[in-house]
Amino acid sequence: MNEELKAAFEAASQGHVFKWWDELGERQRRRMTRQLEKIDLGRLAEMRAAKEALKQPKQRNLSPAPAFALSDEQFPYALANAARAMVPQGEKELRNGRVAVLLVAGGQGTRLGFDGPKGCYEVLPLSGMTLFEVFARKLRRVGVEYGRTPPLYVMVGNHNEAATRDFFEQHEFFGLNEDDVKFFAQGEMPALDADGKLVMEHKDAPFTGPDGHGGVVQALHDKGMLADMRERGIRVISYIQVDNLQVPVADPAFIGLHLSEGAEVSLKVVRKEDPGERVGIFCHDDGVPCIVEYTEFSDEQANERGDDGRLKYWQGSIAVHLLGVDFLMRLAERGTDLPLHAAHKKVPYVDDQGNEIKPDEPNAWKFERFVFDVIPMASNVVCLEVPREEQFLPLKNADGPFGPEGVRQSYQDYWAKAVEQALGKRPPQIEVDPLVAENARDLIEQLVNSQAAKSWDLAKPLHITKL
Ligand code: UD1
Repeated sequence: MNEELKAAFEAASQGHVFKWWDELGERQRRRMTRQLEKIDLGRLAEMRAAKEALKQPKQRNLSPAPAFALSDEQFPYALANAARAMVPQGEKELRNGRVAVLLVAGGQGTRLGFDGPKGCYEVLPLSGMTLFEVFARKLRRVGVEYGRTPPLYVMVGNHNEAATRDFFEQHEFFGLNEDDVKFFAQGEMPALDADGKLVMEHKDAPFTGPDGHGGVVQALHDKGMLADMRERGIRVISYIQVDNLQVPVADPAFIGLHLSEGAEVSLKVVRKEDPGERVGIFCHDDGVPCIVEYTEFSDEQANERGDDGRLKYWQGSIAVHLLGVDFLMRLAERGTDLPLHAAHKKVPYVDDQGNEIKPDEPNAWKFERFVFDVIPMASNVVCLEVPREEQFLPLKNADGPFGPEGVRQSYQDYWAKAVEQALGKRPPQIEVDPLVAENARDLIEQLVNSQAAKSWDLAKPLHITKL
């Protein structure tokens, strides 16, 4: 027994973790010791405070925050003048190889109920292409257009790191250059029970889970990814989440706007029309820009309307950000911690008799950091409104509009409208290879100039792979 470790846990009132120690074999003891050494007991007070904060929501002084409107509101959403003017600057940044794409894929995907990394989910309606391949092909399209393919950094969790790496390897990195795809694992956090004790998942192991997408700031630094970016001359990180099928991986108008405004962080929002929609809201708190999670909005605030009858807090975050490399380096080097958020969840545990229990009801608190908590720390923040159906289609749940069927339906509605506008008829089913077109505007332009498209049989499912 490592007496020092034991004394440290006992001093922190966590001596119960050694309850089964005498029963354990040598290997189990060694493994458990390694795990316990990784737990930062200095964080317990912060964890307890986050748990208590749930009882008393933070007092806020909210007001709506300004946003740039990107496009007109009509399908296929032409760029508005302000955004069009920014495109050359963003394109230059892409041509000069100064942009990286950061895909966060370390979540557990519990709501989808898919056994494996969410990126391996076969989402496209005709080919069954997976989310990972969709993003890789979007990146390759950017590479073809600007002569440089942005490197891809994929944040994974301990639970899905091997499966994610294997998947990319088995598929030869989906045509990306292997040296330009980097995987790195985020940190882990333990869980606390109602008495503030660390939850033991097994007799020889405390429970730990991913530390939230906000763990990305520390992990990028600790795993040498920020240094790697600097070496490559990267200035801007395009942050995307693994669930958003329609997200542009590197949008020149957005990048141009971010640079021209001298922003350290930028974000995209869509107009929220349904007060109950579960998206974070971009707003000001005491004049400081931030994203407030839907769970922290009162019903009254969520339903408040302006003179135009539309929601006062309409800026729904789609979790698409641009992050300055220097800004993140500064935060990480200063050891700036993003706040911890607690959530009451079902956490597997060993009971007093040593039985392993999988609870049916929430029994403990898990802790996560959120990446958007960097927003109040940035010296300049730009918010850009984008058309929902063009850029926000997250696969979240097992059913409903954000389940696989709902997502495939919305995806097909969007692209079928583009075909109808260009060729006069909607196909019954449709899929567009992400290598072919970025969005409906792009596809329509190509279709009206294509001889081949004129001979397509639009009464049949249409799979557009080349134009
Ligand atoms: C999130 C945002 C919400 C936003 C919405 C848009 C939070 C708390 N809320 O909601 O404001 O409007 O997306 O879709 O983020 N992930 C990790 N590591 C983790 C946890 C998550 O990499 O430890 C990744 C997931 O793989 C996924 C993404 O983060 O790519 C989103 O996580 P999720 O927990 O599903 O966020 P939402 O609650 O859906």
